[in-house]
Amino acid sequence: MAQTSQLRIPGPTPVPDRVNRAMAAPMINHRGPEFKALLPELEAGLKWAFQTENDMLIFPASGTGGLESTVANLVSPGERVLAVTIGAFGDRFADLAEAFGAQVIRYAPPWGEAADPQDLDDLLSKEPEIATVLITHNETSTGVTNRLQALAEVVKRRQRLLVVDGVSSIGSIDLPVDRWGVDVAITASQKGWMLPPGVTMLSVSKAAWQRQAKARAPRFYFDWERAQKLQAKGMTFTTPAMSILFGLRESLTMMREEGLSTIFQRHLRIAAGFRAAGRALGLRLLAADPETASPTVTALYFPAALSGEKSEAVFKTWRDQGLVVGEGQGKLAGKIFRIGHLGAVHDDDVVATVEVLERGLEANGHPVTRGAALTAARRALESSEPSLVA
Ligand SMILES: Cc1ncc(COP(=O)(O)O)c(C=O)c1O
Repeated sequence: MAQTSQLRIPGPTPVPDRVNRAMAAPMINHRGPEFKALLPELEAGLKWAFQTENDMLIFPASGTGGLESTVANLVSPGERVLAVTIGAFGDRFADLAEAFGAQVIRYAPPWGEAADPQDLDDLLSKEPEIATVLITHNETSTGVTNRLQALAEVVKRRQRLLVVDGVSSIGSIDLPVDRWGVDVAITASQKGWMLPPGVTMLSVSKAAWQRQAKARAPRFYFDWERAQKLQAKGMTFTTPAMSILFGLRESLTMMREEGLSTIFQRHLRIAAGFRAAGRALGLRLLAADPETASPTVTALYFPAALSGEKSEAVFKTWRDQGLVVGEGQGKLAGKIFRIGHLGAVHDDDVVATVEVLERGLEANGHPVTRGAALTAARRALESSEPSLVA
């Protein structure tokens, strides 16, 4: 089997050596003094990255666990919930709320598009009973980033609780939780945090705590109240994912060294580089509007001649050259591929990936002008003045 030297899926993402070394530290007592010192340090670092004063909760689970904890703590059976879904992960959040007995109303623009704040406003004006709105910030299945600031403004003006799936955005794309009034923001370790999967992290506002106290869905593993009480004592309810938390301390240090705004700009620049390369390769972007093209995932259509089953051969050629990119999900399977570029991804990585993408497409009969994609990517990396998606 060819070795993967370039893991370009939208999570898990590459783990830097520094973080790997930190994770190799010996186990400690998770009810002892060292862990009591570690936990507040992680909470403070996460608050910095989430740009919030809200409480932070940390659970051993993947991102879906963080989403499920939110529904279990906030949504009561029979309650009307609005799910703004622009792809597979938005659908998952809606399905999850339904599984907990909520009456879910779906606002679902076509895949490839972002949600429209005006449509959201119209919907909420007609649905006064909806108390909670679920929104995906960055839809990983389509490579589209919602205009969250504008959507949040609508939700807040209409005085509803705002829950944001920031699994593939927080720490990579600007999401100032407090400034935008996000009540619950959820992420997961294997994305921009440069860690293996296994930890979900979320912020909870005062309004969300008030709702939590009244909500009636069953909860146990993910009971926020118990989690919060124990975290205040420097502990977690269950055994924590210790090694990943050791790694989180290091990745937060790396993030502080780079600075949040530099990290956001880097992701915007790299995404611009991949989009320019895709265009130069003659490929169509799934993200219909460049303003909402994701800074962390770029989804590109296969050319018609390589679509469907033939795409398997292209993925194999790339894999044989050490490059692994994401496949299309659900109805996009066989139609698109997704380049994940979040976390520890730098300009040189764009160049290395584009070289293999070009060779693989050419080897499978797609006409390319050799080197054009690289030139386009380099130009975009050097000159891009990316607009911040809001
Ligand atoms: C936007 C988004 N939401 C939710 C999830 C689910 O996270 P997990 O696979 O960690 O459960 C993902 C994972 O890719 C995601 O990208």
